[in-house]
Amino acid sequence: MSQYSLPDLKKARFRQPDYKADIVYDAVKYTDSQRILGSGLNYHVITYGCQANVRDGEVIAGILENMGYKYTEALAEADVIILNTCAIRDNAEKKVLGEIGFLLSYKRVNPNLVVGICGCMAQEEDVVNTIIQKYPVIELIFGTHNIWQLPELLENVVNKREKSIQVYSIQGNIYEDLPSVRQFKHKAFVNIMDGCNKFCTYCIVPYTRGQQRSRYSKDVVEEVKQLYDLGYKEVTLLGQNVNAYGKDLDDGNTFAELLGQVSDIGIERIRFTTSHPWDFTDEMIDMIAKRDNIMPFIHLPLQSGNDEILRKMGRRYSSDEYRILFDKIKNRIDDVCVSTDIIVGFPNETEEQFLDTMKMVEYCQYDNAYSFIFSPRKGTPAYEMSDATTMEEKKERLQRLNERLGYYSKLNNKKYEGRIVDILVDGFSKTDINTMSGYTRGNKLVNFKANNANIGDIINVEITEGMKNSLNGKQVEK
Ligand code: 5AD
Ligand code: SF4
Repeated sequence: MSQYSLPDLKKARFRQPDYKADIVYDAVKYTDSQRILGSGLNYHVITYGCQANVRDGEVIAGILENMGYKYTEALAEADVIILNTCAIRDNAEKKVLGEIGFLLSYKRVNPNLVVGICGCMAQEEDVVNTIIQKYPVIELIFGTHNIWQLPELLENVVNKREKSIQVYSIQGNIYEDLPSVRQFKHKAFVNIMDGCNKFCTYCIVPYTRGQQRSRYSKDVVEEVKQLYDLGYKEVTLLGQNVNAYGKDLDDGNTFAELLGQVSDIGIERIRFTTSHPWDFTDEMIDMIAKRDNIMPFIHLPLQSGNDEILRKMGRRYSSDEYRILFDKIKNRIDDVCVSTDIIVGFPNETEEQFLDTMKMVEYCQYDNAYSFIFSPRKGTPAYEMSDATTMEEKKERLQRLNERLGYYSKLNNKKYEGRIVDILVDGFSKTDINTMSGYTRGNKLVNFKANNANIGDIINVEITEGMKNSLNGKQVEK
């Protein structure tokens, strides 16, 4: 196998309508020498970005541990440092490039240190070329499709001190039986699919993560069963667009059916993310409404409340369609919480178009929201669009938007005051050791005074105060 293959965003755009991904079982192989490559050595993985990346980071850790490496918290003690990167916005990329400069100092102290980069930035040709030219400290680059090749790529760097660069810009396969070191013992991410076929005009993800490809439901169910048997209380089913789950498979399974099968296992809490408003079916809503262990929380990205901007974004729904779906979710799912993503300052967005987004915020009164200024991503159609809206205007709109989003999240949180809610206990507060934290069924963060709680317990908490980003409370008897 050649150790040199560079990314190509044009190739990454290619989609075959009847493409069937290969499902590769027992995907990662190790030679005897790779099994002991890391004996007595340490690794550290730094993950940026979304939950898909967090899950990839767990797999990378699993592979490194199978090669004998041990985790270290201290970067100065690491022999392998992997930057697992995000490409969604320019500021995410800037953060990573800053970090690389910083890692140079560790390389000076430990010349055998291997610094690697993977994730979505590794799928961008400009980024990889910049890294090759300007950051010689990076000796290992592997793409989102190449994680399973890590043993061979890393061995090549360690033994030959040759650069290993392996990034495929392909539609992609599904890799099963991946080793992993999970972050938590009580809640877990479970991929149900990878890639995205939506091609919203601003988004780089369909290029960096390939064609949408679903895992077979039997494999997902098996993974959740194993987690359940290990005592896990919560799983979050992950996909760039979970509603489209199964459309690329031949077994006719839909996301609603998969939710039902996972719910049947009996695990206490099931979450999922992300749902595109476009193919959110009534069957999904009914399934969430009727199963007590599917959490009443929906992340429903709006992006814009203006029809012309939605059309230019390639979102495939109108503001009316979004509102109808939102109402259905609110009316049919008991005590549901809804969060969203919004982009301001899409190319040439006018004040009137922005005000349509503000109207939608007044209508939906979201429990939580993530708001961003449009960031042009090279290779996407929106990158080429002319844009007369100034950055000052965009920043000012973001501020106005955030003020209203904050107002509604606080208003919704205040309504919880005096209520007793179920919390899955996550851990201790960073600032006060007598305080623990966890999430409600509707995904609200609660800090509470505990009298008898352990991580992984599901307990009752009475809410004493609702604030913008979290709730305060105290544990009460069940
Ligand atoms: N600029 C700004 N925000 C973006 N997002 C995706 N691409 C961009 C971009 N180019 C936002 C969307 C998406 C979230 C994960 O990130 O709101 O839902
Ligand atoms: Fe995740 Fe998208 Fe960022 Fe990649 S670019 S890490 S898929 S949010």
